[in-house]
Formats: sequence, C-alpha cells, structure tokens
Amino acid sequence: MAHQLLKGKKGIIFGALDERSIAWKTALTVVAEGAEIVLSNAPIALRMGKINELAALCNNAPVIAADATSTTDLETLMQKSMEATGGKLDFILHSIGMSPNVRKTIPYTDTNYDNFHKTLDISALSLHRVLQAAMKTDALNEWASVVALSYIAAQRSFPGYNDMADAKALLESIARSFGYQYGFAKKVRVNTVSQSPTVTTAGSGVAGFDVFFTYAEKMSPLGNATAEDCANYCATLFSDYTRMVTMQNLFHDGGFSNTGVSHLIVEEIQKANKVDNI
Ligand code: NAI
Repeated sequence: MAHQLLKGKKGIIFGALDERSIAWKTALTVVAEGAEIVLSNAPIALRMGKINELAALCNNAPVIAADATSTTDLETLMQKSMEATGGKLDFILHSIGMSPNVRKTIPYTDTNYDNFHKTLDISALSLHRVLQAAMKTDALNEWASVVALSYIAAQRSFPGYNDMADAKALLESIARSFGYQYGFAKKVRVNTVSQSPTVTTAGSGVAGFDVFFTYAEKMSPLGNATAEDCANYCATLFSDYTRMVTMQNLFHDGGFSNTGVSHLIVEEIQKANKVDNI
C-alpha cells in the first residue's frame, strides 16, 4: 500500500520493543513510505529487545540508546541522529509509556508516590524533554511533525489504567503547550494520537486488558484500530498532507470516543439478564 508519502523525510522512532509494538509497525510503515529513520529506546530495552532485527528490516537504520527521562541522552541522540542522517529531521514518534504502579498492580487509591513520579516522568514529561532537546539542538526542519501516543483514559475514567490515565492527560497537555511554542518558533507541529486498546507489552500489562479490549471492540462501529492502522495514521501525520494540524489530540479508535453505547453491548446485557432470570 506504500505511496512514497515520506520520500526524502528523516525521523526518529522511539519505543520499538518487539514486533507487537506500535513503534515497530510504524518504523516499517514509514520506511516503506520512503523515510530514513533512526531507532531509539531505553538502554535496558535495547539489551532485552529485538531492535537490531527491526533495524535490519529498515535499511540498516542506526540504533541509538536514550533513556527518555535523561536530558543528556536526548540531546546526544538528536546530535547523533543528525550526523547519521546527514541533516535535520522531519518527524519524531514518541511511543513511550511505563507505570511501575501498573506493573506491580498497586491500586490507584493506595499509590506509591515514587512510582507515580516515575510514571509521569517516563510517560509524559519525556515528551517535553524530547521536544526541548530537539529545540535546543535545532534538530527539526520547519513543518516537522512530532506525534505521541495517548489513550482515552486521559478524558474518561478506566479504573485499570491507574496512574497512566493522569500521565496521558499530562502528555496531551504538553502536546498543546509545546505545540503552541514550537509552532510560533519554527512551524513544528505536535499532536497526540489516542489509540484503541492494542495487544502489546505495555497494553497487556494493564489490569483487565482482555475485557476492555473486547468491550472497545464491541463499542466501536469500525472495531478496534490495530497497531498497523495506527502506523498508517502516524505516517499521514508525518506527511505534508496534514501540515496544518497541530496541538490536537486525534482519536484513532474506530469511533469508540463518540459512541455512548452500541447495540452489541445492549444485546450482551440483555443476554446476561435473561440468563440471570432463568
Ligand atoms: P510497548 O511496550 O511495545 O512500547 C512501550 C515502549 O516504551 C517500550 O519500547 C519501552 O522500552 C519504552 N520505554 C519505557 N521506558 C522508557 C524510557 N525510560 N526511555 C525510553 N523508552 C522507554 O507498548 P505499546 O503499546 O506499543 O506502547 C507505545 C505507546 O502507545 C505508549 O505510549 C502507550 O501508552 C501507547 N498506547 C498503547 C495502547 C495499547 O493498548 N497498547 C493504547 C493507547 C496508547
């Protein structure tokens, strides 16, 4: 389906851990669309993950470690990426998230605040750090596009999502606030994509994931958007066809966010009620 939509463009893809990662699919998609990329992830993820396999599939893309909570790592990454690709960059995918409270199944009402700080630092402030590092090193061309991945728990409560909901709310706010600054400064655009539940390492770690994956599937007129669908959408957002879109949270969820209740959910409840009444 490639259209060379990103021919001549260069960018950084953060967060490809394994073949299920949204970043993994996005890397393959943007390369198929003609882009040249640098892959980055936290040092520990590079040691554990399979990123070199992905790099080989992406025209031997350079792999550069950076902890998204380290300003120094990110500034070095920007410099090295410009050196590796021979110029400034046109897009960045921020596909980074982690909550120690979710990992350790610590309830939201009994949160561990050190963990909570880590959640916010890794999953939200990291977007600010990435943008600040890009600005300081003047790493982005005019009209460059930065996309971060979010989830509807930023607007509505999904109890199992725990402190990641607060992190996503902050992430979306940073996209607006930095998008304003970078837009006026350099015509750089910053958006978040609010993606359907997707079976990945980060996604499956959320309590009750299977249930809300199925619930979202039945609620969404188009069904859940897959990681491949998300990759395609990100490619359009990196392209020149969306150059006036900035400071937005864009729902990519098969219609879930605008559905009150679906007939499929009503039927499920009716069925359950009938069983109860027998
Ligand atoms: P994933 O687990 O494959 O990706 C998360 C990535 O974050 C990993 O590659 C991990 O190494 C990286 N990361 C964690 N700590 C880091 C650090 N300190 N520095 C740099 N990188 C770090 O899972 P997935 O689902 O592909 O997640 C990507 C993004 O999509 C996340 O922001 C997630 O919250 C978001 N998202 C996921 C949904 C889902 O259901 N899977 C739904 C909506 C949004």
